[in-house]
Amino acid sequence: MTIFFVRENKDVVAAQGVNLRERALQNQIDLYTLKGKLINCGGHGQCGTCIVEIIEGIENLSPRTDFEQRILKKKPDNYRLSCQTLVNELVKVKTKPCSSILGVPLNDKKKHSER
Ligand code: FES
Repeated sequence: MTIFFVRENKDVVAAQGVNLRERALQNQIDLYTLKGKLINCGGHGQCGTCIVEIIEGIENLSPRTDFEQRILKKKPDNYRLSCQTLVNELVKVKTKPCSSILGVPLNDKKKHSER
């Protein structure tokens, strides 16, 4: 099966049940914003900085852990902590869904440059 990282336009082959954070990092997928790079907990489910958005295939993931339920309670249902997420089938993932430059979300950069 594969994990498709939308922002990076990269397909990563993975075994069923793989940890999403580990597989991303093994394939040089940058999961962390600057803050996350500085303070991430190394995948121990304690910092909340490895957040990703699941674009497709959320049903193919392990359920949210209790820690995720707490950390992500104000986020959309398709946001996950990659270090807490096991992948069982094809998913499409957007990294750093909360990032922004000067308050403009990264995925909104094109619109911003057209202004
Ligand atoms: S890396 Fe800290 S919660 Fe995922």
